[in-house]
Amino acid sequence: MTIHQLINERVQAALAAAGAPAAPAVIQPASKPDFGDYQANGVMGAAKALKTNPRALAEKVVAALDLAGIADKVEIAGPGFINIHLAPEYLARRSEAALKDDKLGLAPLKPQRVMVEYSSPNLAKEMHVGHLRSSIIGDALARVMEYLGHEVVRANHVGDWGTQFGMLTAYLVETSQDGNAALELSDLETFYRNAKIRFDESEEFADRARDYVVKLQGGDQEVLRLWRQFVEISLEHCQAVYDKLNVNLKREHVRGESSYNDDLPVIVKELRAAGLLTESEGAQVVFLEEFRTQEDQPMGVIIQKKDGGYLYTTTDLGAVRYRHKTLGLDRVIYVVDARQSQHFAQMFSICRKAGFAPEEMKLEHVGFGVMMGDDGKPFKTRSGGTVKLIELLQEAEERAYALVAEKNPDLPEAEKREIAAAVGIGAVRYADLSKNRMSDYIFSWDTMLAFEGNTAPYLQYAYTRVQSVFRKAEDYDANARVVITEPAEKQLAAALVQFEDTLLSVADSCYPHYLSQYLYQIATLFSRFYEACPILKSEGEVRASRLQLAALTAKTLKTGLDLLGIKVLEAM
Ligand code: ARG
Repeated sequence: MTIHQLINERVQAALAAAGAPAAPAVIQPASKPDFGDYQANGVMGAAKALKTNPRALAEKVVAALDLAGIADKVEIAGPGFINIHLAPEYLARRSEAALKDDKLGLAPLKPQRVMVEYSSPNLAKEMHVGHLRSSIIGDALARVMEYLGHEVVRANHVGDWGTQFGMLTAYLVETSQDGNAALELSDLETFYRNAKIRFDESEEFADRARDYVVKLQGGDQEVLRLWRQFVEISLEHCQAVYDKLNVNLKREHVRGESSYNDDLPVIVKELRAAGLLTESEGAQVVFLEEFRTQEDQPMGVIIQKKDGGYLYTTTDLGAVRYRHKTLGLDRVIYVVDARQSQHFAQMFSICRKAGFAPEEMKLEHVGFGVMMGDDGKPFKTRSGGTVKLIELLQEAEERAYALVAEKNPDLPEAEKREIAAAVGIGAVRYADLSKNRMSDYIFSWDTMLAFEGNTAPYLQYAYTRVQSVFRKAEDYDANARVVITEPAEKQLAAALVQFEDTLLSVADSCYPHYLSQYLYQIATLFSRFYEACPILKSEGEVRASRLQLAALTAKTLKTGLDLLGIKVLEAM
């Protein structure tokens, strides 16, 4: 059991003994060290419900509270807060257990089948910054859930279908004829633009493009072959970004929109059978009472257009149906731009009504805000174009390289490059993962690459600092006892043993910045401990114990950063 769960259970039992069995204990880490390590804030609410005096109830709860061996002081503060001070021996035993365990003392949980759908670019064009955020956030969530022991299914729901692909395959054929298709495709953005120019200029080309759409939808083997070729090339572009960004997405995670084609007529049929479809101006529409238009009418979601074509929502319904029927998932997480929140809310609502997803299958839209440039406007190139992700990542590495070369000019070139890649990519990932995903955030090279403050380089550097202690200590004993006496030791240990609770809250809320904040806190507490409590200069049991706390710090930082997809270095 985690510390949080344990305290919650004990306070809950004490509340029951004091006559308030239904009240939640509301356990939180203490807001100040003076208040101990945890506080239980549930007494006020319980007292209100029972119409009794909160202080008196708090006294009863404390009298019934059994934290023997866990806390060494419990006190009542203010109107009825209960402050809990953990016992140093308890923290020491937990720290030792975490050190001995491969997974830092994590308890096995009941595994769920969780899908994390992320990245999901449209293959017609180059990936853009919206996909950067989705890739980074989704990847961190998938890693955390996997580490906790869930069965994670990664999904890259790429946009590989629709009328643009007629135009693109027609243009692929045309440019291949003069032998430079591969060259043109090396830049998807230009390829798309040129195809569009052709389409707008030439009636004859536009007709061919439209003909290709019909052939694609009709399953024409030759056009399908060309389309597949285009899709494969485009996926290679994405893969280059994933590899550089340390995003754990591979070809086998791709299941594009096109794979649901055959299900779309079935979706229409089932919606009709469920009595959910209405014909409106020739289109097949689901009207949702709970979503209102400006005129206070039920909002309509188009499922099939008048010309028989299907829409983005129809494909998403097909995907949910597949994810339930074929994959049997317990939870599906969609990491997609917050601007699509209405789409997801409506789509989920249709799924429930039509039975594509039973109530017990959780569907969650995990949104995120816009990435802004230094100028506070949505991130663009200087000329206002979309920023190519691969170039952005190359720039991150170049900038990190310049910093490394300045700090450490004598390092061998290969090592400088390795550090630059870890720091540059780490900085980009951490800049995103350290903020509440729902807010817009400013992409600033100087801020994210700073060695001070809540940044990746700061944490990576903190890790190397801990490691350097071990390079100097010749006699580290991995089985030494942890003995906690100093306040700085206690604070560090109390934070270190919250790792599992932190991961659980990330998995529950899908907010990776809880983990970032936690790691930053660990790094900060370590440096306070390092200043207040000499490690190598101390002796005997004290020295051995401090080395143990340093070892657990290193292990926690390394594991935590790895879950954020950030590499650590032994020296930098
Ligand atoms: N391809 C879409 C885009 O680039 C994102 C897809 C999100 N996932 C979904 N199941 N709708 O905007």
